[in-house]
Amino acid sequence: MCGIVGYVGAQPAAPLLLEGLGRLEHRGYDSAGVAAVSGSGLRVHKSAGRVRDLTGTLPKRFAGKVGIGHTRWATHGPASDVNAHPHTDATGRVAVVHNGIIDNAAALRRRLSDDGVDLVSDTDTEVFAHLVGRSAADTLEARVVEALEAVEGTYGLAVVHADFPDRIVVARNGSPLLVGVGEKEMFVASDLAALVRHTTTVAHLDDGELATLTATGFTTFRSDLTRTATEAHEVDIDPAAYSLGLDGEDGAPRMYVEMLEQPAATERVLRGRLDEKFGTAHLGGLNLDARETRAVRRVKILGCGSAYYVGQMGASLIEELARIPADAEAASEFRYRNPVIEPDTLYVAVSQSGETIDTLLAVEEIRRKGGRVVGLVNVVGSAIARACDGGIYLHAGPEIAVASTKALTTMYVGFALLALQLGRVRDLSIADGRRLVAGLRELPAQIEEILKGEDHLAEVAAGLAEAESLFFIGRVRGFPVAREGAQKFKEISYRHAEAYQTSELKHGPLALISPEVPTVALVPDDELTDRNVAALHEIAARGGPLVVVTHPGVDLGDLTARRIDVPRSERELDPILLTIPLQVLAFHAARVLGHDVDKPRNLAKSVTVE
Ligand code: G6P
Repeated sequence: MCGIVGYVGAQPAAPLLLEGLGRLEHRGYDSAGVAAVSGSGLRVHKSAGRVRDLTGTLPKRFAGKVGIGHTRWATHGPASDVNAHPHTDATGRVAVVHNGIIDNAAALRRRLSDDGVDLVSDTDTEVFAHLVGRSAADTLEARVVEALEAVEGTYGLAVVHADFPDRIVVARNGSPLLVGVGEKEMFVASDLAALVRHTTTVAHLDDGELATLTATGFTTFRSDLTRTATEAHEVDIDPAAYSLGLDGEDGAPRMYVEMLEQPAATERVLRGRLDEKFGTAHLGGLNLDARETRAVRRVKILGCGSAYYVGQMGASLIEELARIPADAEAASEFRYRNPVIEPDTLYVAVSQSGETIDTLLAVEEIRRKGGRVVGLVNVVGSAIARACDGGIYLHAGPEIAVASTKALTTMYVGFALLALQLGRVRDLSIADGRRLVAGLRELPAQIEEILKGEDHLAEVAAGLAEAESLFFIGRVRGFPVAREGAQKFKEISYRHAEAYQTSELKHGPLALISPEVPTVALVPDDELTDRNVAALHEIAARGGPLVVVTHPGVDLGDLTARRIDVPRSERELDPILLTIPLQVLAFHAARVLGHDVDKPRNLAKSVTVE
């Protein structure tokens, strides 16, 4: 979703801002803009459409070594030139970029209009620019604080002012902001990806915190203007991992590159965490000792989208291996039902970005009520990671494509590690622990093997792409896999894909089965195989085309079906190996249909507003 960049230093700001915005493109956006201040005033350049269009049309004389930029994902008002950020005040001397939502924007707009202010956009952000512009306080910091006093809602925002042309003032409440420290230059961004080319020395602002950036440094403070002690530190990331931009080196889509990275990402999430001798996992970052681990009576997992579905897979793993009741819930719904927070429940927040607002607010709700939350998060130092009591970093590396692949796989492995650790302080035997450890070690090679079958999968996908509507079905461990498979398929192919429990087919969806509606069925070799195969016969009898994801040796009898075999694993680990081919199917179906798989319409990588 919306992205922010800012620069203050010795170089012209606009090219650096546009380059930074290019690195935020993957978050999803529909318009973009930059503003810069210099002794001669404020300049703004913005439009609906792509960052590259904005770069192409940048006026030659766009002076200013202090500037801010933004990619917008429409919330208040459609994508248009006038609604793009930065927004300016009536005098044209103040410019603001903003992520988040100002809840009382309508009331503030009315008040400003009544005062004779001419509001030119439909946005909530514009009101903030006017509020800063109307303040008569001595410093830009005090003007921003005064404007913030009138505002309710969430924000990560950055302000430049032609009367204070040496600085950017930024403020955070609910939307991430990072200050990047360079050599006689400073940066600000909503996402590390926009900074890493210039610096890996970074300060994360806290909610309620503001900062002033000048070419020589930054200071942080609260709204009473008292200083805070936030410091910059080196972040442990490989800038090269961010250098690919949206496409792989050979122009391959990022989703494709990321799918192929799954064996390596799986190795990384396992590294140093498996204990063969005791058949367990070591997850020091959880901050739970053995006694606390034993005291856990229930596990509740929260995430959104793919993270929610992998959370359901994780809940099964925890119940099976640790015999602790576990379930997953959409984080977006959680806090609205006034949930009971139990002291002996372990809450687990799952998120690739660590920014998803619904997941973050769920974590805050739990902690406010005294619950303990651990995070399974990919982005180091992200808001969710920092809001949790402890956690497991996924080490998937930067995930840029909207459709999650490698992060999801590492989430699954993270749950397996958590289940092992919870299980081994309870009744999971050492033999079973060792069996799982060995199974986890096999995963990277098994994922590699599935990915090698791409040609067959591409052929199957081409057939599925022809259908307007399709089902994904599975049972028990396989059902969240079906949900994730359907989600991937619909988000990038734009085909209607519905997940169902195989056992529930008879109770409704069978009515929709026809030669035009294919079904992708998950039929692992387990205690339910025979029942699953029986259900497939019911589909076949109604002319429904079948694709069956299964294990070698599973006898499908005389069924006519396209078959996809995945390597056998420990049963508890089947779900992740069943998931991989569904990613490849979705990818190739979308390609056959000519869609941009990395930027699916209407979707954003990180959903940072409710
Ligand atoms: C968005 C993305 C999904 C992702 C979900 C959760 O909806 O389109 O692919 O699964 O957010 O994101 P998170 O960063 O919290 O894992």
